[in-house]
Amino acid sequence: MDVLVTVPLPEKLLSRIERHHTVTLHNEDSPISRGALETLIQGKAGLLCTITDKVDGELLQRADQLRVVANYGVGYDNIDVEACTAKGILVTNTPGVLTEATADLTMALILAVARRLLEGDQMVRQGRFKAWTPFGFLGREVSGKTLGIIGLGRIGRAVAKRANAFSMKVIYYSRTRLPGDQEHALQVDYTDLEGLLKESDFVSIHVPLTDGTRHMIGREEFSLMKRTAYLINTSRGAVVDEEALAEALKSGRIAGAGLDVYEHEPKVHEALLEMKNTVLLPHIGSATVETRTRMGELAVENLLAGLDNKRPPTCLNWDAVKAKVA
Ligand code: DGY
Repeated sequence: MDVLVTVPLPEKLLSRIERHHTVTLHNEDSPISRGALETLIQGKAGLLCTITDKVDGELLQRADQLRVVANYGVGYDNIDVEACTAKGILVTNTPGVLTEATADLTMALILAVARRLLEGDQMVRQGRFKAWTPFGFLGREVSGKTLGIIGLGRIGRAVAKRANAFSMKVIYYSRTRLPGDQEHALQVDYTDLEGLLKESDFVSIHVPLTDGTRHMIGREEFSLMKRTAYLINTSRGAVVDEEALAEALKSGRIAGAGLDVYEHEPKVHEALLEMKNTVLLPHIGSATVETRTRMGELAVENLLAGLDNKRPPTCLNWDAVKAKVA
């Protein structure tokens, strides 16, 4: 079958696909253009794509032969899963393999904003470090503080474990509450969103982007947070109203933010770029050699299984597609 791959996969993985199928490869470490995607998708049975490729109704209209969309990423807000299901197209993602890397980066952001790491680095590089002083460069302690986790899925839980090791108190808000024994094992306490925002010193977001979570954190939510609190986001930018965030940071409504994702990525709100109390990263939550290797392997396994009409290891709509076909 003909397959389109928009990720420059390592040779070993590519040849796994090529053993069974004919691959058209976008061999660049940059997103494929929309025009190229629309042209190349025609006649393809499989698509292995990244989170920057929009698989929407319009693209699907051109995808006359498509049977499997294997996303190289856990978040799949780039894909209209419902429209795929309606056309009998399987959709897969890569959960699990990027949990630890993303949780590590979340902790890195917590530490970076609280201890002003990037400001300090710049000060040294610019030759402004003249002497150790008792009140120079004071940050905030992380140990003993309250971390509020919004969304206690795989990544949220991995962050909770790390926060426990830093002697933080961990509270969480999630659509579904964990059973008591699991809360106990993870040392987390459940609260509603309002309670979490009021109580937390660090608020960290770990929900997927859906119609229900878009702008979940906006003006009203910032008004509930402590003035000394920090917002951390390694999930999806649009969960936060970026305009409201810029206002909250500018006015001192909150103390700072550590961001890996942006509402209009790769564009970043102008005001955020000028603020000292923000740490801004270029969406690198899963960017380790180990994790990206595992993401590639899982995406390829998903693609091959789907094309072979077998249940892919991490399929989002297997039952729905099979029910439709039956
Ligand atoms: C994902 O997988 O959704 C991350 O945001 C990128 O790896």
